[in-house]
Amino acid sequence: MIVAETIADVKKYVKEWKKNGETIGLVPTMGYLHEGHASLIKKAREQNDRVVVSDFVNPTQFGPNEDLEQYPRDFEADKKLCAGLGADLIFHPTPEEMYGKDHFTKVHVDTLTAGLCGAVRPVHFDGVCTVVTKLFHIAEADRAYFGQKDAQQLAVVKRMVHDLNYNIEIVGCPIVREADGLAKSSRNTYLSPEERKAAVILSASLKEGKKAIDAGEKDLKKITDIITKKLETEPLARIDYVSAVDFNLLQPKDRLDGEETLIAIAVYIGKTREIDNIIVR
Ligand code: PAF
Repeated sequence: MIVAETIADVKKYVKEWKKNGETIGLVPTMGYLHEGHASLIKKAREQNDRVVVSDFVNPTQFGPNEDLEQYPRDFEADKKLCAGLGADLIFHPTPEEMYGKDHFTKVHVDTLTAGLCGAVRPVHFDGVCTVVTKLFHIAEADRAYFGQKDAQQLAVVKRMVHDLNYNIEIVGCPIVREADGLAKSSRNTYLSPEERKAAVILSASLKEGKKAIDAGEKDLKKITDIITKKLETEPLARIDYVSAVDFNLLQPKDRLDGEETLIAIAVYIGKTREIDNIIVR
């Protein structure tokens, strides 16, 4: 597996692959890879001739009081995991390499970024859209892989690709969970043992909501109330939001209908903000 630290290096290999008519699958990550990332890499491996994994803690998607410095990093372990899964190249640039001294361009997706996580993370999605745009172009990717765990990110990136006519297919992949239901996340490492136990309330509450849906409930206010009540049973949990929106434009909706509905939650467990969701189809 090639380890590339510069944009020029990635472009050199990509140029060669493209010359041979090979397809490229990109898995954008911030490193500290877990089984959720592994599932994206495996999917990319199945669907493309070449697989590029980017491993970059992107500073522009963190707000001033967020966890940029603390964000866990382990590049040696990431390299091993990617090599083991058959990735062709891992791209591990510095912030200076990605942004240089004179970077003036941002990509902003309107409307879809106003609510849910965007409401408390105002710079986050501009940072995400800008960095993934750069990565799509650097890797000349035919497909890029994103987890459904960050459902708002997935919807925003799909919208950006649609609106700006990018020549890339966005592939959304299912959430990978721990045995007790907690969605895999690099940020789970912030949880103390007591908080880790408490964090299971996120998936447990969504399960209650799903049970009501399976029993025929279509009123989304009733469904989000069931989820909220369950979350409120956990003393260490503080709710940021419990929302039901359409999974296209992320606008609030009242009833389940024929369209995809995203039921998303964000909950502080101690100081750690955890997110989870279900998509009802
Ligand atoms: O989901 C992530 O890990 C990041 O937001 C991404 C897509 C790699 C962009 O930095």
